Amino acid sequence: MTNNIFSIVLFLVLISQGNPEWSVTITNKCPCIQKNVILNCTGFQSVERVNPSLLRVSRGGCLINAGQPIYGDAIKFKYAWNQQFPMKPISSDIFCS
Ligand SMILES: *[C@@H]1O[C@H](CO)[C@@H](O)[C@H](O)[C@H]1NC(C)=O
Repeated sequence: MTNNIFSIVLFLVLISQGNPEWSVTITNKCPCIQKNVILNCTGFQSVERVNPSLLRVSRGGCLINAGQPIYGDAIKFKYAWNQQFPMKPISSDIFCS
């Protein structure tokens, strides 16, 4: 299941413009490539700009890494808002060789 193959770590970094800043690290723990990764980010907002090539709010969730494969290096970004967002995997396309 998708839920088990991603490790998603959120932690509080500091306060940015009066909001807690959250760091998100997404690691693909599957031995396969995963692309078109969508996380649940219901209500996502940030007072800091988040690079849309790392996280882009789209229909049905947040598209990670512009849909490009996640494999090896972790995807990291930060956002600042007064609450955390779930960032739970909803779907991805898995390619195993
Ligand atoms: C996303 O998370 C929210 C809040 O936890 C939940 O209500 C909603 O059902 C989730 N959506 C999906 C597609 O999993």
